[in-house]
Amino acid sequence: MTNPTTDAAKKDRVIIFDTTLRDGEQCPGASMTFEEKLEVAELLDNMGVDVIEAGFPIASVGDFESVSEIARRTKRAVVAGLARAIAGDIDRAGEAVRHAQRGRIHTFVSTSPIHLAHQMRKSEEEVLEIIAATVARARNLVEDVEWSAMDATRTPIEYLCRCVETAIKAGASTINLPDTVGYATPDEYRNMFQTIRERVPNADKAIFSVHCHDDLGLAVANSLAGVEGGARQIECTINGLGERAGNAALEEIVMAIKTRGDVLPYETGIETTMLTRASKLVSAVTSFPVQYNKAIVGRNAFAHESGIHQDGMLKNASTYEIMTPESVGVTKTSLVMGKHSGRHAFREKLKALGYNLGENALEDAFRRFKDLADRKKHVYDEDIEALVDEEILTAHD
Ligand code: KIV
Ligand code: ZN
Repeated sequence: MTNPTTDAAKKDRVIIFDTTLRDGEQCPGASMTFEEKLEVAELLDNMGVDVIEAGFPIASVGDFESVSEIARRTKRAVVAGLARAIAGDIDRAGEAVRHAQRGRIHTFVSTSPIHLAHQMRKSEEEVLEIIAATVARARNLVEDVEWSAMDATRTPIEYLCRCVETAIKAGASTINLPDTVGYATPDEYRNMFQTIRERVPNADKAIFSVHCHDDLGLAVANSLAGVEGGARQIECTINGLGERAGNAALEEIVMAIKTRGDVLPYETGIETTMLTRASKLVSAVTSFPVQYNKAIVGRNAFAHESGIHQDGMLKNASTYEIMTPESVGVTKTSLVMGKHSGRHAFREKLKALGYNLGENALEDAFRRFKDLADRKKHVYDEDIEALVDEEILTAHD
């Protein structure tokens, strides 16, 4: 068993960097209006997100304006603007975050051989020069500069070490090593951070960051593995929105850390009771539905239909729930009535609907409910009420 007092003392704070408004918005069809972006940013700030990546200021006038306005309005979080390793991008991002209480320029360049050969058409040495020059340029505009090695997980470790060392020397205080194409496995990702932190001489001058895409469904597992490897910032999005299969989902990461503190001795500043609200808001403004069985915020995340599970839940919720629905902002567990439901749950449902049937009537009603549930996909409260009313009427005939 774990000791909460001593464990709390050992917990390392992990920075939550939300990129719903940037990487999330890059998801095809998920664009948001200016007002919607302000609304999402306000909620993220109130929820305790540490860094809000508000957009990509060079991308459009609209993006520039929303980043600037979010920078002006945000009270607590750092506001970041993204920039390629191009002078014009960096200057525009600097201008956009100029009025932030705490502004950050997040600049990135590709480092993998595949990207260098086919996209950048540059040599390794040329890219090192670009890193030194662009990070220094950003550093002249703001104090807080984050540098990302795009496609880090497909970059040879020796070269990645040189890139990281160069970026830190030029003034980057956060080093992000993204799994841009969602290719890494947890062990590989953990090892990459451990190796870089061991080999790069000035590594202790920066905070390392994870940024994982979900192409193989490993984004959350990889993010947590990166933290085990020494990273202390996690880049993620609400509902896992993002390019292709999406980014690591903020709500999953935060609740994994909160629920499994015994093996993940970290903490975040997130008010978890706001997670469901955040999920609903992002789903509404992007018109992207949340899948029913999505972890933490899906409609079925705290719903139980099978008789065995419902019976356990009615006796003690810890039998089939590892966190309380209230802890993520859901008012209560729902026992969904269907063909898998048992007598115990049926009796409780009748009580909740205001019926108090004797044993024989209950038995009859339960049999009819099971017949109905076999024929009908969804059994609503009204169906049960109709069935019980009929049962009562027949009993009086
Ligand atoms: O996935 C990625 O590499 C990115 C960078 C811009 C950080 O989103
Ligand atoms: Zn990304």
